[in-house]
Amino acid sequence: MTHSYLMPTYTRQPITFTRGEGSWLYTEDNTAYLDALTGIAVCGLGHCHPEITKAIQEQAQTLIHTSNLFGIEWQERAGAVLCQAAGMDNVFFANSGAEANEAALKLARLYAHNKGFKRPKVIVMEKSFHGRTLLTVSATANPKAREGFFTLDDDFIRVPFGDIDAIKQAAANNDEIAAILLEPIQGEGGLNDAANGFEFLEQIQDICNANDWLFMLDEVQTGNGRTGKYFAYQYSSAKPDVLTTAKGLGNGFPVGACMVRGRANGLFGAGSHGSTYGGTPLASRVVYSVYEQLKDGTVMQNAVQEGDFIRQSLTEKLAEYHVTTRGHGMMIGIVLPSDWDCSTLVDTAREQQKLIINVVGGHVVRLLPPLNMSRSESEQLIERLVNAIQTLAKQQ
Ligand SMILES: Cc1ncc(COP(=O)(O)O)c(C=O)c1O
Repeated sequence: MTHSYLMPTYTRQPITFTRGEGSWLYTEDNTAYLDALTGIAVCGLGHCHPEITKAIQEQAQTLIHTSNLFGIEWQERAGAVLCQAAGMDNVFFANSGAEANEAALKLARLYAHNKGFKRPKVIVMEKSFHGRTLLTVSATANPKAREGFFTLDDDFIRVPFGDIDAIKQAAANNDEIAAILLEPIQGEGGLNDAANGFEFLEQIQDICNANDWLFMLDEVQTGNGRTGKYFAYQYSSAKPDVLTTAKGLGNGFPVGACMVRGRANGLFGAGSHGSTYGGTPLASRVVYSVYEQLKDGTVMQNAVQEGDFIRQSLTEKLAEYHVTTRGHGMMIGIVLPSDWDCSTLVDTAREQQKLIINVVGGHVVRLLPPLNMSRSESEQLIERLVNAIQTLAKQQ
């Protein structure tokens, strides 16, 4: 490629895809790549799902945007089905995960303001990722993402992921905590599950209730069927006050949502938050269409079945390297030995195996395949990944 006018915010892989279909991406010369990343947990129903594409086409020919100064029928419909699926009362539609989390953090500040707090704090987790706006990057743990931005560090208290004692200690030491924000499974931070399954969410909710904090879950990555439930928190009996999501919500169409329930309801009023684009007729119709694909549970059942199959097969086939697996549904982490240099794995998988993967936390292979992947595609994924990891093992 000649000179690029794009800001170099990403280290891009030297490949360009021109077409996608289901679990596959194609280059200009029609070489097929098995996509176990789905645009970073976005295209959960696979690339160019025919029903989603049809909804986009029809809505693009009918009405794309009017602004939130007017009623939007598709936004009402999408809001109703999403809140029902999530067990929440109300939704604000945004355009990305960061914006959904920004809304959540602003809600926490309003909640604190109403209580008369002077300098409210939100508890967040080590290894968290919540986005790139100034407030969400301040909530994010990764020092590289925060460097140089004068992040709002005093507004956050960081504790180890799911560490109940550390949260209790924070409660004892601060009387202006407004909320706690966390991912049920950490995605960017290394595909981290809490030690006791999802029970920790119930314990955290109890602490939030006891202290009158908002219990806020970031399901930007884990939501919309990715883990085998509509939302990952539904593996527990906990119920958040604030729930955010994006990524799979639009299957590639940019959209995010911040939902509220109970004591978090009614904090935003006319003029206190907004977005020109949030919940356009087009975006909302896509959200509704994604819901229609997920609502009968078949796709999520498939995610559990194939996810378990992939985890189990990889554990067996990679036993000699003492590899462990984690995650739920189609959010899969393959933990390679911590002393391995894994920096070549993504390139080896792509170049030699025509497989698209990602590595997080230095040595955890993160697989985020389509939720509706077939058994034969799962088998191909396993075979290709095992080959790539064997090549990597020889280099150690
Ligand atoms: C858990 C989580 N929250 C928030 C975000 C930010 O979402 P977006 O990139 O759509 O702003 C991400 C993106 O990876 C994420 O994984």
